Amino acid sequence: MQALCEAKIPPMTDLHVEMLKRSTLLVTCPRGWEREARQELRRMLPGATVESLYIGGNIIVQFDEDAGEALRRISDTKTWTIAHVTPVQMRMPIGPGREWLERMQQAAARLGAADTERSFMVAVDRRGDHHFSSHDVVMAVADAFVEGGKPPVDLETPEQVCSVEIFQDLCYMGMNPAEHLLRKELRRMRLWAPGGRPISRAELKLREAIRQFELELPEGARALDLGAAPGGWTRVLAEHAAEVVAVDPGDLDERVESLPNVTHLHCRTEELDPAQIGHFDLLVNDMNMEPQRSAELMCEMAPLLQHGAVAVMTIKFTTRQRSRHVREALAVLERCYGEIEVLRMPHNAKETTAVMRLSEEAQDASV
Ligand SMILES: C[S@@+](CC[C@H](N)C(=O)[O-])C[C@H]1O[C@@H](n2cnc3c(N)ncnc32)[C@H](O)[C@@H]1O
Repeated sequence: MQALCEAKIPPMTDLHVEMLKRSTLLVTCPRGWEREARQELRRMLPGATVESLYIGGNIIVQFDEDAGEALRRISDTKTWTIAHVTPVQMRMPIGPGREWLERMQQAAARLGAADTERSFMVAVDRRGDHHFSSHDVVMAVADAFVEGGKPPVDLETPEQVCSVEIFQDLCYMGMNPAEHLLRKELRRMRLWAPGGRPISRAELKLREAIRQFELELPEGARALDLGAAPGGWTRVLAEHAAEVVAVDPGDLDERVESLPNVTHLHCRTEELDPAQIGHFDLLVNDMNMEPQRSAELMCEMAPLLQHGAVAVMTIKFTTRQRSRHVREALAVLERCYGEIEVLRMPHNAKETTAVMRLSEEAQDASV
């Protein structure tokens, strides 16, 4: 390989290459599952030092026994969060500039030489910002081993692999038989499917209420959502209703604001003009508000509800006198609603959920 930025390259003695004395494995796991992955590794390798690297989803394991035996154990054990396992034998600090390509090449030459008769490849996993690409590293490091076409390069099924694992300013390298690179099946994956992460914890409350109270909406239903921001409930409602009117002076999450069947009224409930917003099949209220006042607003909205409409209200415990808050809210709600059920659900924290139907008297007075 042509010397890169020759004038700036420090002598090898300045490279701070450290040949690792203990057997060392770099292990990846899904981000957010590092704790579980560390526990799995400690169970399989008692006595090993198991630490997370500062870039999420990466763990370093060091131990005194032979790496081959440890790899066999990891390979044979049913694991949940372990993805890739890569043995490494060398570590060096690096910088972001292209001059580090040649330094990595020089350092790679210190690894045990590749068997020139067995096929070979360089695999690079680069995390961070550098002025070189992963491909640049592959080419530079491969030049430390390949001479006159030997060992033969095989990118599909190599017999030996030089792994280069870069974590911004730290580079690990390992030369291994290909079978020593473990690729395990992930049994525990993301907590949420892509796009399924809740907008807010509140979203789970409404999903629970819908399940628990077996709420159903008629075809083409309209829902009114009071205290909607950031939009967890609105998103759930938008899955069930033809149209959702979301009322909150606060902003909705853009994933909700952009839904075609959501209209956001950027105001307080007290400022609504009932004559302007039509009628609804479902009213929900998650406003941060003293429960009695919140219940009064539920009654003010009752004339907007269709026959048989259901209403859901979170009774917020604004003080420690929880039962007083429930009692006072119910006393107001009973003026307009019947069949009121109050249930504390797992995602309720300092609050409880009331589900009710428009009472017949209120129905007669409305619509
Ligand atoms: C707990 S958050 C609602 C969370 C929402 N249900 C969700 O799933 O993302 C309470 C909301 O009530 C709103 N709020 C408080 N007083 C209000 C009022 N008078 N009118 C409308 N919204 C109000 C707040 O702005 C706040 O966004």
